[in-house]
This record gives sequence, structure tokens and C-alpha cells, in this order.
Amino acid sequence: MKIAHLENIYKSYKNGDQETVVLRDFALDIEEGDLIAIQGRSGSGKTTLLNIIGLMDSEYEGKYELYSPKDQAMICPKNLRDSDVSRLRNEMLGFVFQHFNLLEHMTCLENVCLPAAFSRKPPKDVEAEARTLLERFDILDKSDAFPTQLSGGQKQRVAIARALLLKPRLILCDEPTGALDAETSQEIMSCFKDLCREDHLSFVIVTHDPNVAQACDRIVRRN
Ligand SMILES: Nc1ncnc2c1ncn2[C@@H]1O[C@H](COP(=O)(O)OP(=O)(O)OP(=O)(O)O)[C@@H](O)[C@H]1O
Ligand SMILES: [Mg+2]
Repeated sequence: MKIAHLENIYKSYKNGDQETVVLRDFALDIEEGDLIAIQGRSGSGKTTLLNIIGLMDSEYEGKYELYSPKDQAMICPKNLRDSDVSRLRNEMLGFVFQHFNLLEHMTCLENVCLPAAFSRKPPKDVEAEARTLLERFDILDKSDAFPTQLSGGQKQRVAIARALLLKPRLILCDEPTGALDAETSQEIMSCFKDLCREDHLSFVIVTHDPNVAQACDRIVRRN
């Protein structure tokens, strides 16, 4: 099943009367269970693209449709009110970053629970869900530890658990292994592969690492 469709995407940044075109005639289809790598030189628009797919940036031209579970159909996020954009983002999208972006003063368990902070779910249920995820990624014993007490790979697994808490369908990753060694990078990639195969989640992974790209099903190259 198709969950995202981009066609003829055009994006530029304006600085005074100067315009820098970052994306031109960009197209991408994302199916359920896809593991897609995006590669390209620095400044080629990879993060810009993730921001568009991630509903963080609506200042683009062209067609972008994302599956909306509420409508059970593909919809154009551009036509939505801000509150509906936030809802769609919460329902559909998860984010994983190079530097993990964990809150240092919170325990690992509290970090994983964060995305549900504004939901009406009972805290006990949220916590149970978070523990299940920590267990799945083999870091349940780190529940009460703080991020500074963890290795890079463990921190990234906490961040992945956090990204999955609200059961998104599409996970967007910007250099998720950029701060990890080769062996730990492969561990993270095998986590992602399991989530694709077993849970039919989809991934778009921006990476400079050819080994990470090779582990994906498809590679999209920016120039
Ligand atoms: N908010 C902004 N305002 C103006 N220009 C921007 C802005 N964000 C990005 N750019 C420019 O757009 C281009 C693409 O940036 P982007 O961050 O998408 O690149 P990238 O492919 O992610 O690079 P990297 O591999 O270094 O992370 C760059 O030339 C950058 O300077
Ligand atoms: Mg970038």
C-alpha cells in the first residue's frame, strides 16, 4: 500500500533578491514496509526533503500526499489547518536524529513516554507501552538510567523507542548512524529492518554511509 507520494516538488530559499533552488522536479513514492536511503552531497537538500515529508515545512511547490489514517485515504497536508497537521504528524510520522535528541534530565523511560505527554492516554498504559519498546530493543534494564549513562547505540535505541511510541507508519531518519561506529550502525540498521519486515513500518534514511545505504531496499541519490 502506498503511504506517501511526492511529485514535481520544487523548493527554494529566498535571501533578499537571491533565490537558491534546493529541490527541483523531485518525485518519490513510499510504500508500506519500504526501507529507503537518501544519499547526496552536503547541501543537496536531504534535510530539506525530510522536513517537507515530515510536515515541518509547507513552503514548497508541487504535489505531496500522505496517507491519513483518520480519512483512510491519501490527502494533501498543505490543505490542512495547523492542528490537523499536528494530528497527522502524530499519527503517521516518527523522527530519529544523528545526535539522538534525548532530554538529559529525564530517565530513558521518561524520554520514551514524552510523545504521549499531550495525549489522553492513561500514564500507566503509556509506561507499559514504553517498557515493551525498551524490552524489544534490549534496553529495558536502562529504564531508570539517564541518557549520559548510555553508549551511543543504546541512546539511539532509546530514541527509536521514543519515535515508535505513538505507533507511526513512516519513520524519518537524518543520519541516524552518523555518531555511531560501524558495528553499532549495523545493529541499528538491523533494528530498522526488523521493524519493516515484522511491523510493515516504512523508513526514509538520510545517510552518508555507503554500508547503511546498501542495507536499504532502495537508494535515492541527490546530485
Ligand atoms: N532555512 C534555510 N534558509 C536558507 N537556506 C537554507 C535553509 N535551510 C537550508 N538552506 C540551504 O538549502 C540547501 C540544502 O540544505 P539541506 O540542509 O537540505 O542540505 P543537506 O543535504 O541536508 O546537507 P547536509 O548533508 O550537510 O546535512 C543548502 O544550500 C542550505 O544552505
Ligand atoms: Mg542535512
